[in-house]
Amino acid sequence: MTVEAGSLRSHQWYGTEGLRTFSHRARTRQLGYLPEEHLGKPVIAILNTWSDINPCHSHLRERAQAVKRGVWQAGGFPLEFPVSTLSETFQKPTPMLYRNLLSLETEELLRSYPVDGAVLLGGCDKTTPALLMGAASMDLPTVFVPAGPMLPGHWRQEILGSGTDMWKYWDDHRAGLIGERDMAELQNGLARSPGTCMTMGTASTLTAAAEALGVTLPGASSVPAVDSGHERMAAASGRRIVGLVQEDLRLSRILTMEAYEDAVATVLALGGSTNAVIHLIAMAGRSGLRLTLDDFDRIARTVPVLANLRPGGQYLMEDFHFAGGLPAFLAQLTDVLHLDRPTVAHATLREQLAGAEVHNADVIRPRGKPLADEGGLAVLRGNLCPDGAVVKHIAADPELLEHTGPAVVFDDYKEMQRTINDPALGITAEHVLVLRGAGPLGGPGMPEYGMLPIPDHLLKQGVRDMVRISDARMSGTSYGMCVLHVAPESHVGGPLALVRSGDLITLDVAARSLHLHVDDEELARRRAAWSPPPAVYERGYGALYAEQITQADTGCDFAFLARQGKVPEPYAG
Ligand code: FES
Repeated sequence: MTVEAGSLRSHQWYGTEGLRTFSHRARTRQLGYLPEEHLGKPVIAILNTWSDINPCHSHLRERAQAVKRGVWQAGGFPLEFPVSTLSETFQKPTPMLYRNLLSLETEELLRSYPVDGAVLLGGCDKTTPALLMGAASMDLPTVFVPAGPMLPGHWRQEILGSGTDMWKYWDDHRAGLIGERDMAELQNGLARSPGTCMTMGTASTLTAAAEALGVTLPGASSVPAVDSGHERMAAASGRRIVGLVQEDLRLSRILTMEAYEDAVATVLALGGSTNAVIHLIAMAGRSGLRLTLDDFDRIARTVPVLANLRPGGQYLMEDFHFAGGLPAFLAQLTDVLHLDRPTVAHATLREQLAGAEVHNADVIRPRGKPLADEGGLAVLRGNLCPDGAVVKHIAADPELLEHTGPAVVFDDYKEMQRTINDPALGITAEHVLVLRGAGPLGGPGMPEYGMLPIPDHLLKQGVRDMVRISDARMSGTSYGMCVLHVAPESHVGGPLALVRSGDLITLDVAARSLHLHVDDEELARRRAAWSPPPAVYERGYGALYAEQITQADTGCDFAFLARQGKVPEPYAG
């Protein structure tokens, strides 16, 4: 099917007769275009998250030009729109506070302008879900162009993974194993080019999820940011979006429950970031679908971990790309995927994966030689987390999979930073570190505080992992037995608010259980004595955020964005 020019959304702005259309045509001439260059052509919005403050996206200005080239080649009319950048490194208290704001901006920008299809450029952590959440709510034909991973890090003879090796060497520095000069050299080698973190951190996990959902071109998620193939992929995405508009293939036909289940299976088999749990639940919600924590746990029991990538494994994203990338990876999982669903590139996923081959069986493991027999995440339940919690157990010390120890409780992150090395706390390797006040409301924004630092004196004794529990998130490049996303969070009175130092806590990953050994009567007494902390924000965006944010188990979307309901098209005449 080919959409007639008169049926395009943009026709309302450009193609009808009347004063407004006259003005729109005159103003397009003001932009330097002749009528034959744009009239009747699909208008493609290129949403660009480039910014000087975002090193992960610093190449996206050039990539937008490649997308435009592809759009022109295919007979479309490209228009670039700058949108907010969510720089994981620089934005405080956390870009998660602004994920929903970018999703709102994306949706409303696509709605309020003469746009027939969209190409979304991003990749740094929250950028991918934010752009896709907004686009899903608007439901136009859409292609996502992942920013691509940066080059592998280097230090002397070592290959460095962003995030993962920063944490590792920071701990070595704190333990007195390496000095200032080493640290200065490491700063030069950790991030060598534009692009997203090149471990299977949150960025790579979410861009892989986008590819598994079917909203990128095949193989797009692992093309290194500075590889010439990245520019070719961007141009091809520009060509393809024009075809999608002509076919009227909207996101809602791609983002089905089957697609989300396949994205979950992909994330789990990659040993991907725990952040994907929150983001995929929120994204599915924008598609009008209910994805739950239980779906993650159910699917985790059916897929092995096959990607040998840091932080859980050995290699980096460039290795993954040259091992065959996501098409080769998904070809190992065809028994658990829904192969008859469409993608932006092919009529079926089956067609998309046909002929995909693994070129390095140590990077993308065969089914008979997995890194772990079950997916990389587990969903925990228990009296400490009635609405669930998440642990990435494949990136943790197996000795801690079943552990009971006394709690050491920190009421907030600042207190934890100030006191964790205080000998008076008497922290041993058997203790369970508990951080509260770090959830969606309490954080605010649920910062990535979940990998609580091991106290210095234990590091010097060689301790590298402990059980840690919080209502925070954790960077996808982090590791350790960190129980995250405890819901409900302490700020709203979840049981985490009632734990006291010295209480015994049992973590049992195999049983999917997190239990606080305090009886119900005592918990009721503590609850009666508990009072909610004061509001963090009294005005501004933070106040709107606090009014609307939902808990981690339902994706931390804004309630008014998550609900389904009619939104009229703007009147352009
Ligand atoms: Fe941008 Fe890691 S900081 S992807």
